[in-house]
Amino acid sequence: MNAPVDPIALLDAEDPLRHFRDQFTIRDGLIYLDGNSLGMLPKRTVARMSETITQEWGEGLITSWLGADWVNSPRRIGDKIGRLIGAQPGEVIAGESTSINIFKALTAALSLQEGRHVLLSETTNFPTDNYMMQGLARFSGGTLSTREVAPEDVLGALDDTVAVLLLTQVHYKTARIRDMREVTRKAHEAGVLVVWDLSHSAGAIEVDLTDANADFAVGCGYKFLNGGPGAPAYLYAAKRHHGAHPVLSGWFGHARPFDFEGQFEAANGIDRFQCGTPPVLGMNALEEGVDLILEADMAALRKKSVALSELFVTLVAERCGEFGFEFICPANSAERGSQVAFAHPNAYEMMQALKAREVIGDFRAPNVMRFGLTPLYTSFADIAEAVERLRTICVEREWDRPEYRERAAVT
Ligand SMILES: Cc1ncc(COP(=O)(O)O)c(C=O)c1O
Repeated sequence: MNAPVDPIALLDAEDPLRHFRDQFTIRDGLIYLDGNSLGMLPKRTVARMSETITQEWGEGLITSWLGADWVNSPRRIGDKIGRLIGAQPGEVIAGESTSINIFKALTAALSLQEGRHVLLSETTNFPTDNYMMQGLARFSGGTLSTREVAPEDVLGALDDTVAVLLLTQVHYKTARIRDMREVTRKAHEAGVLVVWDLSHSAGAIEVDLTDANADFAVGCGYKFLNGGPGAPAYLYAAKRHHGAHPVLSGWFGHARPFDFEGQFEAANGIDRFQCGTPPVLGMNALEEGVDLILEADMAALRKKSVALSELFVTLVAERCGEFGFEFICPANSAERGSQVAFAHPNAYEMMQALKAREVIGDFRAPNVMRFGLTPLYTSFADIAEAVERLRTICVEREWDRPEYRERAAVT
């Protein structure tokens, strides 16, 4: 008689991406479901960092700007990220934070939209996106204004006063995927340019900026790209918009930075979206993460992400159904990015209790438990075990301890 087959073990055994897990530093027993906040450390990054610090910096010193190609890292890595998001070579530049890139993209789009003064977004967008719009409006001294509407009202709010629409493709809490092509088409019909925040899309779902006829996009390097804490972000500008002016006119965006001219003259192409000296240590770490994900087939990655999230949702319903978790993501997996999220009145304490049991997800105020699914290193066994530990903390009421109620600075 054959031994009964464990269906979860079978899913892992048949996973075409399973060999990627060995490429990451993963502590035994840890179930890491937070790669949508900070991706895990690729083993190859350790070697690259050591080389960057010891040889390139330590020995090469200033000559490494040319000798180790530091100077071209924003374009070189930008082009690699571009391959993940359907951009053409020369349309993506890596560097700075997502927030700063939002500023650059917004101001570049505004420079192409004379006569229009409204920056539009949805109220539930990731806060930094809307904060950047609000800051710009304040700085404009009344020339610009923001319009923040409910998610379902965005398309209805497009009119001839709107200069730019800023949207996140995969929502940071609900994981809802926006139809980038359709939204862009409707925006263009209204004469509006769109800035897409791809922080939860790149490396998680298939993205095709060219097919979507996108204008501008930005995104994080430290989430699904596994670029490391505070990794440089990236900015995409469609070639047809390379005449735009991103306002942050630093010397690295100059046509001839080493001529040290008195007046700013923007570089041709995507280089004009650079500002200051690239953060080389972060750049080189980011490149390793990007190279690794480029080795994976995005269609296989997406397929596994969907399977992981379906398993998570099914098991939570089966094993934790009586504990009052409300699934807040779209029920249809085709409309959901690479995470699952549940609302619960004790979400904060529960996440603390889960962390004590070595299951790491995160809490998003006011009441959401969020679990990122990173197909390169998350296994089906991780999901099954995470749900069992969730059940244990509920059955034993482990979350109901005073120490789990204290709010930390980072959640
Ligand atoms: C959608 C989105 N945009 C932007 C950011 C963060 O931007 P920054 O890297 O500038 O802090 C996040 C962080 O989680 C995010 O989820």
